[in-house]
Amino acid sequence: MELKANNISFSYNKKKPILKDISLSVNSNQIIGLMGDSGSGKSTLCKIIAGYLTHYTGEVTIDGKKIPDKDYYPVQLIFQHPEKTMNPKWKMDKVLNESWTPTQDLKDTFGLKDSWLTRWPNELSGGELQRFSIIRALNPKTKFIIADEISTMLDAVTQVQIWEALIGHCKANNIGILAVSHDKDLLEVFCDDILYFDEINNL
Ligand SMILES: Nc1ncnc2c1ncn2[C@@H]1O[C@H](COP(=O)(O)OP(=O)(O)OP(=O)(O)O)[C@@H](O)[C@H]1O
Ligand SMILES: [Mg+2]
Repeated sequence: MELKANNISFSYNKKKPILKDISLSVNSNQIIGLMGDSGSGKSTLCKIIAGYLTHYTGEVTIDGKKIPDKDYYPVQLIFQHPEKTMNPKWKMDKVLNESWTPTQDLKDTFGLKDSWLTRWPNELSGGELQRFSIIRALNPKTKFIIADEISTMLDAVTQVQIWEALIGHCKANNIGILAVSHDKDLLEVFCDDILYFDEINNL
């Protein structure tokens, strides 16, 4: 499968365009990196590709077809701050099972401990919470993952553990990844190609 963003342009307000004629593509067997300055519009582009923002021009397609937004959205966005995407009034067991019921195997792959399931989101560390948000995004219907600085707040060892688990699962299940990071060394280790935001943005 091929995920494509075609000629995407967007502005939050009319005076200041943020994205202009951006095109990129990710295949199911690929990991594509995206680097760029802070505030340049990477997260905005991620939100458009994952269906969170709709007032843009251009097209997001999979195998040339627009993605229907009525069914499960096959492009899942994982955010930098997992706590912002979780209901603080839900215990982690409910948070984890919101989208689908993950297998024990997958929980083990990400080192998710059963004792975390009975806690509230504010009782876990950033790295522990991020494992939940990644597993949630790996619903079997997911075809592409957009990882927007998902490991920025983690130490180097945890960062590698999480990325290895995510890449292993995605390779085995033919899920393509668009990985946004400021960490060039990290992207160079596992990406098939790295895109530079100011080169693909035609402002
Ligand atoms: N909801 C919003 N309303 C208005 N402006 C916004 C909104 N969200 C983001 N912006 C602005 O759009 C620009 C791009 O923001 P975005 O979050 O996409 O940047 P980014 O490249 O992801 O930055 P970073 O690397 O710091 O995460 C910034 O100037 C930001 O202030
Ligand atoms: Mg961002």
